[in-house]
Amino acid sequence: MLSIDPSAQPARQVYKLMTGIIVPRPIALVSTLDRRGVANVAPFSFFCGVGSVPPTLLFCPALHAADSGPALRKDTLRNVEETGEFVVNVVSEAIAEAANTTAAQVPPEVDEFALAGLTPLGSEVVRAPRVAESPAQMECKLVQVIYTSRKPGGGVIVLGEVVRFHVREDLVEDFRVDPAGLDAMGRMAGNTWVRTRDRVELIRPK
Ligand SMILES: Cc1cc2nc3c(=O)[nH]c(=O)nc-3n(C[C@H](O)[C@H](O)[C@H](O)COP(=O)(O)O)c2cc1C
Repeated sequence: MLSIDPSAQPARQVYKLMTGIIVPRPIALVSTLDRRGVANVAPFSFFCGVGSVPPTLLFCPALHAADSGPALRKDTLRNVEETGEFVVNVVSEAIAEAANTTAAQVPPEVDEFALAGLTPLGSEVVRAPRVAESPAQMECKLVQVIYTSRKPGGGVIVLGEVVRFHVREDLVEDFRVDPAGLDAMGRMAGNTWVRTRDRVELIRPK
């Protein structure tokens, strides 16, 4: 085995190791509003569920690197901290390219729904809009933001409680979601994404 002490490596190399080893990662397409009401959408693959009582999830909008200007917080993190709300939209293959478009670094005043050709849909509990084209959306209230570091590139954990689930009606039966219909995509390292069409059943031992 190649054994690596991360403290002796540049951050970029450690990032490559993490995104190569921790795979596949689901993708949260996170929609937010800023204080003035400008909508923002961006994908985050450091994303997972935490528990269902209460329904809680997390995603991780890392701080920008030192060379990317004075504002270290990504627009999504700034909006979440300012408004306490966000929506996580599932990325199906049908909207993968649009979701990827929203990863472009654009000024905060640019509406990324319009940029990516996605349609904002009013939420029921939070002000942030949902992505209409997404097959499942989760409206969230902010629980806590944890900075693992305040330095450039530092990790940030956004914990949210899901206050409303929305799932396309044809995809749910008795609360079970049809994975084929959801057609969620995930992320590997770099520009490689992964489909969820190759599935296996493993019966859990009693
Ligand atoms: C598939 C995908 C997954 C991504 N995952 C993350 C992530 O987990 N954390 C992160 O900080 N950036 C991630 N990014 C990069 C952000 O989407 C990108 O920095 C984006 O511009 C942030 O937008 P914002 O400034 O509007 O919040 C990812 C990009 C792509 C394409």
